[in-house]
Amino acid sequence: MGTIKVAFYDAKPYDQKSFNKVNERYGFDIHYFPTHLNEESVALAAGFDTVCVFVNDTVNAKVIDKLKENGTKLIALRSAGYNNIDLHHTYGKMHVVRVPAYSPHAVAEHAVALMLSLNRKTHKAYFRTRDNNFAINGLLGFDMHEKTAGIIGTGKIGKVAAQILRGFGMNVLAFDVYPDKQFASENQVEYTDLDDLYKRSDIISLHCPLTPENVYMINDDSIRKMKDNVMIINTGRGKLINTQDLIKGLKSKKIGSAGLDVYEEESEYFFEDFSGEAISDDVLARLLTFPNVLITSHQAFFTKEALESIAVTTLNNIRRYHQEHQLPNEICYQCNEGKCTRKESGRCF
Ligand code: NAI
Repeated sequence: MGTIKVAFYDAKPYDQKSFNKVNERYGFDIHYFPTHLNEESVALAAGFDTVCVFVNDTVNAKVIDKLKENGTKLIALRSAGYNNIDLHHTYGKMHVVRVPAYSPHAVAEHAVALMLSLNRKTHKAYFRTRDNNFAINGLLGFDMHEKTAGIIGTGKIGKVAAQILRGFGMNVLAFDVYPDKQFASENQVEYTDLDDLYKRSDIISLHCPLTPENVYMINDDSIRKMKDNVMIINTGRGKLINTQDLIKGLKSKKIGSAGLDVYEEESEYFFEDFSGEAISDDVLARLLTFPNVLITSHQAFFTKEALESIAVTTLNNIRRYHQEHQLPNEICYQCNEGKCTRKESGRCF
């Protein structure tokens, strides 16, 4: 077999560094394209066996048809989430693999960093003291000890977040469509329904994937059920929150603070430098005016350990497919519906 050619979209300098290092062991021919994959840029992938994409690349039906026409056989996601891919449309046309876990600690620790900063207002203190302003008025926080955190989604990341917050002495409530009762009893975590979690939590942290069922789960209706002054943290996916409703909750002071690593319209701005330009997204611009909103640019995953692990798993996924016809980290729409036959065959179709 000839050299495996990989079209790598949305390539950043840190991606190239980590992938080049790991690729010394694989010897793939990787072409790094700084642009996102979309209907305009898909032509760049002509002649590549494999396309490597990230969270803000667009893999819709038109892009998939064009990739197939171009000869692409494998889409290798270098992320865990895959809501940006039309899996239904890829089925039978090309395989899709992902990195199911790289560092749940990276994301959970970042979620807790957002909580701590918003609570103790270290993001504001940083600017004050640099301006020789040593007043502490307005920086009042609360003890997290004995307060209640609500974790929505107790998969790999949610579990680590729950354990860290238990270490702070918080009471931890959880909601998951598939609760892990053993984890709950071993870590003194209490599973409950969403309404009860909203009612009792001082801090709510989202760690579930985005699915058609939970789009805008945080909306006027759910916010109304929450405690006054609640803190909402989202390191999951932007569309879990209806941003207009979040802004309403912040304006009415129902919501005390919000830490957002993801935003529903992030693809235009996140990961890029717009420091010399005006922001044309009025919703994002409004969010940035709140002193009690802390936005980070989808950086929760961004640790040395996670980058290395992403490169290792992605290149291994590509090698296993091309050399062994095996796809241990394949995803398809039937996987999501629990009907996939992958266990028997080592690949989804
Ligand atoms: P996982 O697959 O280990 O866990 C997800 C959990 O959510 C599962 O237990 C599942 O049963 C549960 N779940 C599914 N639908 C749900 C719903 N409607 N309500 C409540 N629970 C539900 O995934 P992992 O690795 O913990 O990642 C979670 C999400 O975090 C990813 O899907 C991705 O969207 C996001 N993520 C964000 C990153 C960042 O840098 N901000 C990096 C990595 C992941």
